[in-house]
Amino acid sequence: MKKIFSLLVLAIFALAAHAEDYVISTKNTTMVLSGKKGERLNFVYYGPTIPVNEIRATGNAVNWGAYPTFGTHCTAEHAMLVTHPSGDNSLELAIEEVKQYKENEAEVTEFVMKDKVFPFYVSILYKAIPDVDVIKVSTVITNKEKKAVTLNRFASAYLPMKSNELWLSYLVGGWGAECQLVEEPIHRGRRVIGNHDGARTSFVTNPSFMVSRGEPNEHCGFVVGGTLLWTGNYELSFLNESNSNYLEIVAGINPEASAYTLEPKESFTTPELVLTCSTEGKGGVSRNFHRWGRKYQIIGGTQERDILLNSWEGVYFRVNQEGMDQMMKEFSAIGGELFVMDDGWFGDKYPRDNGETSLGDWMVCKKKLPQGVEGLIESSKKFGIKFGIWIEPEMTNSKSELYEKHPDWILRQEEREPVMGRGGTQLMLDMTNPEVQDHVFKVVDDLMVANPDIYYMKWDANFSIANAASLYLPKKKQSHLYIEYHRGLIKTLERIRAKYPNLVIQLCASGGGRLNYAFFPYFNECWTSDNTDAIQRLFIQWGVSQYYPSNVMAAHVSASPNHQTKRVTPLKFRFDVAMTGRLGMEMKPSDLTDKEKEFAKNAIATYKNIRPVIQQGDLYRLISPYEKKPYVSVMYVTPEKDRAVYFLYRTQYVRSYPAEVRVLKGLDPNKNYKFTELNPENPKKKGSLDGKVISGKTLMTQGFYLNIEKELGSAVYELVAQ
Ligand code: DGJ
Repeated sequence: MKKIFSLLVLAIFALAAHAEDYVISTKNTTMVLSGKKGERLNFVYYGPTIPVNEIRATGNAVNWGAYPTFGTHCTAEHAMLVTHPSGDNSLELAIEEVKQYKENEAEVTEFVMKDKVFPFYVSILYKAIPDVDVIKVSTVITNKEKKAVTLNRFASAYLPMKSNELWLSYLVGGWGAECQLVEEPIHRGRRVIGNHDGARTSFVTNPSFMVSRGEPNEHCGFVVGGTLLWTGNYELSFLNESNSNYLEIVAGINPEASAYTLEPKESFTTPELVLTCSTEGKGGVSRNFHRWGRKYQIIGGTQERDILLNSWEGVYFRVNQEGMDQMMKEFSAIGGELFVMDDGWFGDKYPRDNGETSLGDWMVCKKKLPQGVEGLIESSKKFGIKFGIWIEPEMTNSKSELYEKHPDWILRQEEREPVMGRGGTQLMLDMTNPEVQDHVFKVVDDLMVANPDIYYMKWDANFSIANAASLYLPKKKQSHLYIEYHRGLIKTLERIRAKYPNLVIQLCASGGGRLNYAFFPYFNECWTSDNTDAIQRLFIQWGVSQYYPSNVMAAHVSASPNHQTKRVTPLKFRFDVAMTGRLGMEMKPSDLTDKEKEFAKNAIATYKNIRPVIQQGDLYRLISPYEKKPYVSVMYVTPEKDRAVYFLYRTQYVRSYPAEVRVLKGLDPNKNYKFTELNPENPKKKGSLDGKVISGKTLMTQGFYLNIEKELGSAVYELVAQ
C-alpha cells in the first residue's frame, strides 16, 4: 500500500570531532550506536533500557562495526559486497551526516555514509516504534559513480551480539508441517536460515528468528527477535567465530543468483528487518511482535475476523450451485458468518476439475455454476452470510486459454522446456512484466466489478520459481528476477489495495508457504497449513504464534478421520484447538450428526463472545507440545487484564501421570477472576473450576490442579475479573 510519509525533520546532528553516542529508544528498549564524521559507524548496544554509562561500565558495550563491508574488513562478516565500475570490490563507509526525523509512527535515525574513495552512498535507517518496542533496520544504497555498480551482497541489517551462551530459535517445515520450532545452542561456525524457492518463501523456513541468552524460556530471560519484511528469497546468517567474539547476525535479500546492477543515480532500498527484544523470554518477544503486527503491519489488524466455512476439504474440486447452497445454508444455521468457495469453480473451455487445467481462465464454469458468481452471492444473501472466493492469480496451466493466448507470459528459459508443477502442467506467470501485473490486477478487479458483494478472497500460490528466467527482463538483468518478481507482485497488490481497501484477502501458498509479515499490509490473514489434524495443528500453531498473532492464523475444524493424517479426534478437541486462532470450518456441515451440529453451534456462539480476547489479547504459552508432556496449554489475556481464556489439551494418555499444578501468567495479581467452563462436552456436568472465584495472585503463584483423564480431551475456561 502506498504509504504517505509525513517527513518532519527534527534534527540534523552537528557532528562533533569526537565520537558521539546515538541513543535510539522505545518504551522498554534501547539501541546505541556511536561514531563521528569521516569515520565508521559503531554498534554499541541493543537491549533493555539501562543508562548508557552503565552499558559501558558493565562491559555490555559491543563496540564493533555497525555495517561491515567487504574489502576493508576482510576478517569480519560482511553486510555488503559490491563491485565498482573499475572492478574494485572494496568499500569503506564513513559517516557523512546523521539525521533524526519522524515518519508516521516511527522515530527515524538515519546515518548517511559514503565510501572513502568512490561516490557510493549507503544510508542505514533505524526506525524506532516506541509504543511496541520495535526497531526496524534497513539501508538505502545510492550509486553516484559514473557507471553501474554490481551489488553482490546487500544486507538490510547487521547485528553483533555479545555472549558465548546464546541459543537460536527458528521455524522450519514443509507442506503440511509448516512452522516447526527448532531451538539449539549457537555453536562456533555459521548457521544460515534461507530460502530460494522464489515464490513460497516461508515453506521451508520462516524469515524470523529469536536469539536467547541461555536456554530459551517462555517467560523470563533476555531474548532478541527479528523478522525480515521481504516476500522473496531471504538469508539470515548467524556467524559465531572466535575472532570477533560476537555473534554476527546478517539479514537481507538472499544474494544467491541475485547480483543487482545499480545504474548511476539509482537507489536501492533494502527490506526492513524488524527487531524487538524483551527480558520476559520468548513470550515477551512474541507479544511485542503481535502488538506491532496488529497495530502497524497487518491490514485490518485490529478488526474482528469472521468465522468462515471454506469448501475445500468438504467437496475439493466438486463445486456446484446445489452443493455450495447447501453448505451456506447449513453453516448459517449453526451461526457461521462467511462462506468461501475454494478451487474448482472456473474454466470455460477447460473446466477446472482437477489441478491440471484452467489457472488463468477466471470465468465461471457455467456447467457447474449456471447462475454464475451472482447466483452464489444471491444464495449467500438469502442465508444471511457473506461470500468469498478462491483465486490463484500468479499462475497458469499449459492447458488454459490464458496460456494459449500468452505463452510468453510465463517464467521460462528461452532455450529450455519449462519445468511444470502441480498436475504436471502448472506454470508461474512473469510478474516482472507490466502486462502480467495488469492481468493479475484484473483478475481481482473483474471479479469485484462484476460482483461488488464479494467480501473475501483466498489468494493461493502453489508453485515455485522453478524456471528462473524472464522473457521480459533484458538478458543482462536476468539476475534481477527474484527481486523484480516481488517488486511486481507488491506493486500489483498496492494497486488492488488502493481500489479495494476493505476486501478481506487470505494469504495462502499450498498452506502456510507465504507466512511473512511483508505480505500483511495487503493480506488480512494466512491459511496456516493444509494439515488440519488437531494434534498436528498444536505444533504448527505453536510455531506460528512465535511471531504472528492469532487473528492472522486461520484455524479450521475439519472432518474426522482427518483427511491428512487419518486420525480420529473428538469434535470438542478440534474446536478447542481451532479456537485459539481465527476460527473456521473446512468440511461439509451435513457430515455432522445433529448432536455434533448442536455442539458446533454452541462453540461458534462461544467463540463470538471470546473473540476479542483471542484475536486481540496477549498470548501466554504455558505448556509446549515440544516438552513431550501429555499436555499442551496456552492462554490469552486482554491488555486490561480483565478477561482471559485458558486452554488445556491432553494429547496422549500416560498411565499414572501425576497430578500437575497449573500456574497461569499475565493476570492482574490484585484482581479476582471467576471461572466459567466453555465448550463443555456435557453442559449439565461442568468441570471442577466452573463458578469458582480465585485471585490473580494465587493463580500466578500457587496455581490450581487440573487434569484431563482421557486422551484427546481438552478443557477451556474463561476468566472474568469481578
Ligand atoms: C492449496 C491450498 O492450501 C488449499 O487450501 C486449497 O485451496 C488448494 N490449494 C486448492 O487447490
